[in-house]
Amino acid sequence: MEIIIKDDYQQMSRTAAEIVVEVLNTRPNAVFGMATGSTPLGLYQELVRLHKQEQLDFSRVTTFNLDEYVGLPVNHPQSYHYFMHEHFFKHVNIPAQNINIPSGTTSNYRAFCEWYEQRITECGGIDLQILGIGSDGHIAFNEPASSLSSRTRLKTLSKQTIDDNARFFDRREEVPVYAITMGVGTILDARKLILLASSKKKAKAIAQAVEGPVTSIVTASALQLHPDATVLVDQEAAGQLAMRDYYEFIYAAKPGAPRT
Ligand code: PGA
Repeated sequence: MEIIIKDDYQQMSRTAAEIVVEVLNTRPNAVFGMATGSTPLGLYQELVRLHKQEQLDFSRVTTFNLDEYVGLPVNHPQSYHYFMHEHFFKHVNIPAQNINIPSGTTSNYRAFCEWYEQRITECGGIDLQILGIGSDGHIAFNEPASSLSSRTRLKTLSKQTIDDNARFFDRREEVPVYAITMGVGTILDARKLILLASSKKKAKAIAQAVEGPVTSIVTASALQLHPDATVLVDQEAAGQLAMRDYYEFIYAAKPGAPRT
């Protein structure tokens, strides 16, 4: 696992965008796994800027979003369909037919989840999966005790997640209780993972995910099992990492490392 600690949110977002651009440069038809939430907003803004000012081309890109609330129609302001459209898709040139987001309103969740997994496989698998982390240590909506080999399925949100996400809704009771989410196993199948976290609120979850045991109680700890995972954090989110100096030393030495 590579741990990158940046001074602030903006620098973290810029570094994340550089990683996306690197993948896109080597694979113009890359398949990206997309995340919602406050954390990746800066990354999306930077990618939109690169598209508008530097002609970064997404015309051959395919995307798969991690999750969606159950019960919210696509035009609901808190749905992840709406979020992705507003903050990213409407500003770049990804063909509409290449955009995949789990359905929160299907009449058959089980069949939909199977189809979603199949669709990812048909598209050649995910090249780069972008991830956030919940304050309960979740990735996507894989709440504590989710199997580390789980696939796309319906999940009940933890109380912690409902509390965290209540800030986006008028009332706590309006936060959906269920979501459809890629599984931890689905996420681990991506060729490259990048997990972003900023602010003190994430410091404990980051320390558990990076330095704690691999456990279904902190599903982000499953990144330790992945051969190409990068954890990209700002100073505050790095605040509880015991081996912080070590990660900074390794990152600083990287440019001079022998290349094969
Ligand atoms: P946030 O959500 O980026 O809004 O903090 C992250 C998550 O719950 O995965």
